[in-house]
Formats: sequence, structure tokens, C-alpha cells
Amino acid sequence: MLKRYLNLIDGKLRTALSGRELDVRCPSDGLPFAKIPASSAMDINAAVKAARAAVDDGEWSHLSAVGRGRLLTKLGDLVLDNLDDLTSIEAMDTGKPMREAEQDIRMTARYFEFYGGSADKIGGETLPYFNMFNAQVLREPHGVTGHIIPWNYPSQIFARTLAPALAMGNAVVLKPAEQACLTPIQLAVLAREAGFPKGSINVVSGTGAMAGAALARHRGIDFLSFTGSPKTGASVAAAAARNRIACSLELGGKSPQIVFEDARKEEYLHILVQGVIQNAGQTCSAGSRVLVQESMFGEVLDGLASRFEALTAGPHDEDPDLGALISNVQKKRVLRYLNLPDRPHLVAQGNVSPSAPAGGHYVRPTLFGPASEHSRLSQEEIFGPVLVCTSFKDERDAVRIANGTEYGLVAGIWTRDGDRQMRVAKALHCGQVFINSYGAGGGVELPFGGVGKSGHGREKGMAALHTFSRLKTVVHHHGL
Ligand code: NAI
Ligand code: MG
Repeated sequence: MLKRYLNLIDGKLRTALSGRELDVRCPSDGLPFAKIPASSAMDINAAVKAARAAVDDGEWSHLSAVGRGRLLTKLGDLVLDNLDDLTSIEAMDTGKPMREAEQDIRMTARYFEFYGGSADKIGGETLPYFNMFNAQVLREPHGVTGHIIPWNYPSQIFARTLAPALAMGNAVVLKPAEQACLTPIQLAVLAREAGFPKGSINVVSGTGAMAGAALARHRGIDFLSFTGSPKTGASVAAAAARNRIACSLELGGKSPQIVFEDARKEEYLHILVQGVIQNAGQTCSAGSRVLVQESMFGEVLDGLASRFEALTAGPHDEDPDLGALISNVQKKRVLRYLNLPDRPHLVAQGNVSPSAPAGGHYVRPTLFGPASEHSRLSQEEIFGPVLVCTSFKDERDAVRIANGTEYGLVAGIWTRDGDRQMRVAKALHCGQVFINSYGAGGGVELPFGGVGKSGHGREKGMAALHTFSRLKTVVHHHGL
């Protein structure tokens, strides 16, 4: 018997109205182990209706900011109380190693804690205006917010997008990815247990084409938040535009790690590898390009090669260096890149564990270099355990190559020269820069988001509270 997971709509656990279901498969062996509702526009409609009622005159709309903050904080505590359970569901659903899944659940709790504490610390302002007026700016929720999230970090991205929206008083409808959506469903159940009133949080599972598209085009939504591919992001943004609502898009990247010759090798080699190996490379902010100053290129490539050769992909419960990819579709996509006829020189490859089941979606971690900055591997997001190295001459050249893709999400700069650190950080076209470190994922406190094809809008930090609220100016003439 496969375990059945249900939608949460209007405070109730429900099957899809059509009764249809989808199989949930474990990437480590490809076998089904659970079922989720295959929801359609009808279920999305019910969820939006429930959210509207919650935000218009429901119990949710009458809570104070302090009350909302307390619920979020309580949810964070419940997440930690259920750490082991959520960790094993996340690992089984995504194929990621147990330690990474555990880290993700801890980060999930941290999002609820951070936004629980921030709910009552953000407000509007009063403005200097003519003396016979009082001009004030109120900060208000959008109303009903729609959230479409991907499969790579289901629980973290659930919390990243919902916590600030809820802190600001929106009622939310979330469509998780069909490839991995069990922790979002479980987190919704925990939210109900924490005391979130009916309709404030609705989670509806199903495919992108059915449930996702229905949510994106729904006229009852006041704001849309999307994380996923640039292609789907564009179609979601077009749907939002037809309803004249704003959206935020987080669409991945081709983030560079730039290594200057004066950087400390013992500090960066490990982080260059981890920056792309985490979650088997299926991370929006993966450091998937390494740019190395030419005087050091051979030495750095050798250091990376020996580390890549020592990596092993394996089943999540063996806590390997990296797990399987999310699906066979994703595996084929990555293998197509590895086998491009004009690919750069393949320097090194890691292994797949002998105990890895044949049905799992494993890909050997692979290092390429030297690669032309124009090669497809240097330009396109691969979303797999693949690192591409390119050499540069000097600072100008490094900045030019780093900025030479359509993406711009994160960048890493490795140098001991303090002036150069700041010059390069300012010259890079992206949303986050790390100096002598690299943070793929994590960092609840740090505003995050892209430029160009990486999307727009900021999440995380106090910035997300602005994303999920809007301003209303009230001008009061009180006379002299
Ligand atoms: P996708 O963008 O199609 O899926 C993301 C979410 O959008 C899922 O919940 C999906 O069900 C939903 N969706 C799909 N089609 C939709 C539609 N027409 N309307 C509304 N929602 C829809 O991404 P996919 O196909 O799973 O992955 C393809 C590539 O996208 C990956 O190889 C990777 O390069 C990139 N990606 C980037 C992510 C990031 O973190 N920025 C996350 C996932 C994928
Ligand atoms: Mg799955």
C-alpha cells in the first residue's frame, strides 16, 4: 500500500476533486512509494476561494502582526520537533543525502523563526508634507498570494516564499512541484497543528500544466511568486501580466566563482567543489563556473580534478557525497550536456556507488576545462554535478567573462586584495556576491534574487517583507 498525501484546502485535507492521483517516486531507486493528488483548476479554484475568505473577513484577517509572528514561530518549533521525520521524507522524495536533507529542514525552521520575529517589526511611515496635512504610508498585504515552487529544495523554498508572505498577512495558495512535494504537504499539516486559521495556508499538488498553470492565470490572485526554469517563469509572468498583477521570479543561474592568483588555495578548493556538488548540482545558486587567473589555472584544475575523482554519487540513505538526480528526465538532460559533440576537454569524473540501485538517476560528477567562455557548458544552466573551468588574464577580463552570460544570480570572488574585492563585487551583474566564501542556499538573513534571465524580485531577509506587501498613501487634511 502506497502512503497517500492530501491537499490542504480551507483547513481540510482533501483528495483532488477529480479523484486522480500521481505516483511519487524515490530518485535513489526510481520506485513509487506514495501518492499525491493530481489536482486541476477545480482544486485551485477552491483553494483561492478559501484564501480570499481568510484574508477578507476570516479569523486570519483579524489576527495582529504579533499573532501572525507567534504562529510562524510555533511552526518553526514544530518543524524542529519533527526533524527526523521531515528529514527522511525530504531525502526519499528528492534523493538528496540525509545530511543535506537535515540541513534543509533546519533551514526551514530558521525561515519560520526569522519571519516569526519580523512580523511585528515592519510598518509604514509618516511623511513631511504641507502643515495642514498628515501624510502617512501604510504597508499592507497584497491579499491572496500564489506560490509555485520547484523540486530541488521543496521544504526550504516552501518556507522561503510562504513565511514572509504570511508574516505580512497574505493568505497563500502554494503549488509544489510534482517531482517532490511531500514536505510542503507535511509542513501545511504542521501549520494547521500550529494554529494557522483555515484558508490562510492552502497547498495543492499536481502537475505544472494542470495545477500550476491554473494558479498562475487565476483571477483571484493578487501577487505571484515563482521559482523554477526561465521558460516556465516567462509563461507564469505572462499569465500574471494578463491579470495585471506583479510577480517575482527566481530562475536559476550560471554563477561564477572567480579565483585570483593571490587567493589561498587551501581555503577555496573545497568550497569550489561543494558549491556545485551540493544537491547534485540542482541548486539555483550553484557555483557552476570557475574562472581562474591563467598563472594558476593548471594548478587549480589539478586540485579540482583529484577532488572530483574522489566523489561518489549514491543512495540518499548512505549519505554519499551526492545523491541521484531528481528524475530520469533531468538525468537525460544533464547527460546531453556531457555528450555534446563540441564539449570542452573532460578532465575528471567521480564515481557512482556500486550499491546504487539500477533504477536510480545517478550521474557521475564531471569536471571540464579549459572551456571557452562561449561554450554551451559555460553559458547554459545544466542543473547537474558538472563544473566548467575557464581561465582569465586580469581583473577586467575576469569581470567581462563573469558578466558574459544571460544570467546573474550569485558570484564568488577569491582574492586577498581588499581593493579588488570591492571593485569586482561592484562590477558584477548579479544579486549576491560572496568574498572568500560561497553560500549556495542558506542565509535567511541575506536578500537574494537575480538580474536578467535569473529573474527579478528579492526574497529572504527583510527585503522579502517588501516583496509580499504594498504601500498605500493616506493624505489627511486636518486644517491649521
Ligand atoms: P519548471 O520551471 O517547469 O518547474 C517549476 C515549477 O513550475 C513546478 O512546480 C512545476 O510544476 C511548475 N510548472 C511547470 N509548468 C508550468 C506552467 N505552465 N504553469 C505554471 N506552473 C508550471 O522546471 P522543471 O521543468 O522541473 O526543470 C527544468 C529546468 O529548470 C532545470 O533543469 C533547471 O535548469 C531549472 N530549474 C531551476 C530551479 C531554480 O531553483 N531556479 C528549480 C527547478 C528547475
Ligand atoms: Mg519525488
